[in-house]
Amino acid sequence: MKFVAAIFCAVVLFTGIITVDRNNFKTCEQSSFCRRCRKVEHNNSPFELVPATLNTYSDSITADLVNKNNGHLFVLKVEGVQGDVFRVTIDEKTPLRTRYRVTDALKGPVKPDVIKVTESKTELTVTCGQNKAVIHASPFKIDFYRNEVLFVSANAKGLFKFEHYRTKPEKSEAPAEGEENKETEVPKDDVDNEPGAWEEDFKSHHDSKPNGPEAVALDFTFPQAGVLFGIPEHADSFALKSTLGSEPYRLFNLDVFEFELDNGMALYGSVPVLYGHGTKGTAGVFWMNAAETWVDIYNRNSQKNVLSSIVNMVAGSDNEPLAAHFMSESGIVDAFILLGENPQNTFKQYTDLTGVAPLPQQAALAFHQCRWNYNDEKDVMSVSENFDVHDIPMDTIWLDIEYTDDKKYFTWDSRTFPHPLEMIGNLTARGRHLTIIIDPHIKATNSYYVHNDCVDRNYYTKNKDGNDYDGWCWPGASSYPDLFNPVVRKYLADQYLLENFKTTTNDVFIWNDMNEPSVFNGPEVTMPKDNIHNTEMGTYEHRVVHNLYAHMQTMSTFDGLLRRGENRYRPFILTRGHFSGTQRYAAIWTGDNMAEWTHLQASVKMCLTQAVSGFSFCGSDVGGFFKNPNAELLERWHQAGAFQPFFRAHAHIDTKRREPWLFPENTKLVIRDAIRKRYTYLPFWYVMFYEHERFGYPVMRPLLSHYPHDPETFAIDNQYLLADRLLVHPVAQEGATNVDVYFPRHSATGDGDLWYDIDDYTMIDSVGYVTVPVNSYKIPVFQRGGTIMPKRERVRRASTLMKNDPYTLIVCLDRSQEANGTLYADDEQSYDYRVGKYVYAQIKFTKNVLSSKIIDPSATFDTLAWIERVVIAGLDKAPQSATLKTSSKRITLDVIKNERSYTIRKPAVNIAEEWEIVLNY
Ligand code: GLC
Repeated sequence: MKFVAAIFCAVVLFTGIITVDRNNFKTCEQSSFCRRCRKVEHNNSPFELVPATLNTYSDSITADLVNKNNGHLFVLKVEGVQGDVFRVTIDEKTPLRTRYRVTDALKGPVKPDVIKVTESKTELTVTCGQNKAVIHASPFKIDFYRNEVLFVSANAKGLFKFEHYRTKPEKSEAPAEGEENKETEVPKDDVDNEPGAWEEDFKSHHDSKPNGPEAVALDFTFPQAGVLFGIPEHADSFALKSTLGSEPYRLFNLDVFEFELDNGMALYGSVPVLYGHGTKGTAGVFWMNAAETWVDIYNRNSQKNVLSSIVNMVAGSDNEPLAAHFMSESGIVDAFILLGENPQNTFKQYTDLTGVAPLPQQAALAFHQCRWNYNDEKDVMSVSENFDVHDIPMDTIWLDIEYTDDKKYFTWDSRTFPHPLEMIGNLTARGRHLTIIIDPHIKATNSYYVHNDCVDRNYYTKNKDGNDYDGWCWPGASSYPDLFNPVVRKYLADQYLLENFKTTTNDVFIWNDMNEPSVFNGPEVTMPKDNIHNTEMGTYEHRVVHNLYAHMQTMSTFDGLLRRGENRYRPFILTRGHFSGTQRYAAIWTGDNMAEWTHLQASVKMCLTQAVSGFSFCGSDVGGFFKNPNAELLERWHQAGAFQPFFRAHAHIDTKRREPWLFPENTKLVIRDAIRKRYTYLPFWYVMFYEHERFGYPVMRPLLSHYPHDPETFAIDNQYLLADRLLVHPVAQEGATNVDVYFPRHSATGDGDLWYDIDDYTMIDSVGYVTVPVNSYKIPVFQRGGTIMPKRERVRRASTLMKNDPYTLIVCLDRSQEANGTLYADDEQSYDYRVGKYVYAQIKFTKNVLSSKIIDPSATFDTLAWIERVVIAGLDKAPQSATLKTSSKRITLDVIKNERSYTIRKPAVNIAEEWEIVLNY
């Protein structure tokens, strides 16, 4: 019965009126720790530093903190971390049990930096390079300065809270009035009397809370900031809004059916990094805690209008700094304070800690076609063929859960997919890939070997009573592998090996879904918090590690795919759940959105927030998952997706089929045009991801990344930059005939860059909003003057077939008649680039000479690819001809004059060579 109800909720409920069922999810008020943290009195912190306990080391200090209300002691550690970062940890001094510390989010051990300590009566100064942390003893507070400017304060509002572990109070009679409390063993504070501290109910679910209250919370103020952003995943604006009088933003990985927009409800992923940016600089806080976390945002003005707060800040009329209050159910305080020089460096400080999205296979950056479900082998092949018939490129076709034998992952439904290897082979022969879904829940039936193995070997997550936990998901009764146990991760990874999963090949990519984990009949559609995991640190409740469950799955899948290809091939994995650091293993998408214009708009805001939070490889279901998009929405969504990192069309099982050729001819042509455009820009996507791996900056960037002094950019989230080279403003309004594109300034009132419309090189030489007319084919994208764009203009059916194709270089000049760019090429699939098999070239235009220089001369790559065309826009005067010079030849080339550009045809020089093209006047 329960199962029927769950399936009804999660699958079949597909009505015209769609809104999230908020009753399924807690509010802060319904969550006892959030309630407790939120009601901490402001500006009256009971915590004090105990100076006599100070220990100084080469890279850190430690000292005790005392909670004056109950005498409980804590240990504070402030550590210098290389690259302008401080790390602050606070844990109990003598806890009843060891608290969980997150390690898997980090890409590796943190690199300590040398510190210097000076003491005064009331404060302690820890200097690290040009930065310092001033620790005030009473009340406890830390001020973080970069170059003597205060960027972040911890506990300035006095909201620090740390609920020490305690023994459960006896259910003895409450002390009579006037009588002293007899419990003397553990000092009491107000927590014990709170309902929900020792057990908690939500709907029909009971949380046994054997360890009682254990929350940690701390506030951070950002005195220089005009805007706060980060902490995905929420279906909300890029700029965080004030939560005063409303719900805090929630970080708790959840499968939220039919999520709504413009609010801070939890979604599939949790990335607890938050940035504060203002014209004087940028700072960030990475709150490394994997338990359920709520974040209050203090921004007096933002409830009305984010922009007005920025204006006030700039005008100096708003003296109350923006602030964030992190409140976690469990764990320790482990916060990294990022004090970057500018937005880009601050984002990089975060990826230096948690890692980048490694360079994917080229095919993963191309177009993906998915739906729930392609029904059988014939269906798959006919979709693939139709893409060819209609001349639309497509690299990967996806199979959702129905391909399996009764939702048993690592198996096939033998009726619909009797010859998977043949099907995969047919796709591979056409240059295409297949992606299949593998969810973490395991069908609990003894006719399934994975289940039997997990039972026999004790691999399942346990319930509070120590038995294998079972819940409901797509297969019905399911159990959930304990992914925190490295042995279990290895077992699941092994399942991907070709010797085990014999019906797949190295060309099969993997999609990990439902890994929040989603449990249809669990509390808030996930696992009970009192479930038990066997982690590398010991046995812990699910409560303390919840937000890492998906991360551990992707870690395991990545290991499996790596070993499957004998460490040769770059795995491609898509995951729905994620935490800080998951970007090292998988791409993400924004989950089950809707075929609505507002959701198309949300795709930009959400991926932009993800990008600054480490997830450069992000996209949304093109077309919208639920409901049926009309032709215009489908067209515009493909156009937007063509300029977002992960580009995949996907749809719910109950929607109408929507492959482009099923729409009127004009719609098909518009979609085809958008996808083909994506393919022409693949060399640019490829170099961006290479540079992301190498340098750590986001691929998709908010305008403030490069225009940090222009306050107008702070809240813009309907347009963005790709690297610092393209400005994209997708059309996301129904019936639009024009869009207002903002061209940013270098300072609050100053100049901007030149921009060139990528379709016709129309030059924009103004700042502020410019109205750009759009027809149905138009995607408003502008190349920045001063950049050189590598493209491939011979589009084929799949990117894998374009490997040796020639390049076109688009040179857009700045006001000094100069431009710069890079080109990167390798085998597009393997890890050989990590051992020096690649070409990375710096392409430059200066003083009328375009030149290509190899950046890493020790790297080599044999390629047939050559430069077939150079287009130059923005030249002051008309060249007569051009001369190509290489080490072995000197050739005169024709220069053709176009309406707004010049074309140099067929330089025909190999991309691995160094060359020069001199313009002759
Ligand atoms: C989840 C996914 C969705 C998928 C479906 C069936 O809802 O988010 O993309 O199609 O499960 O597997």
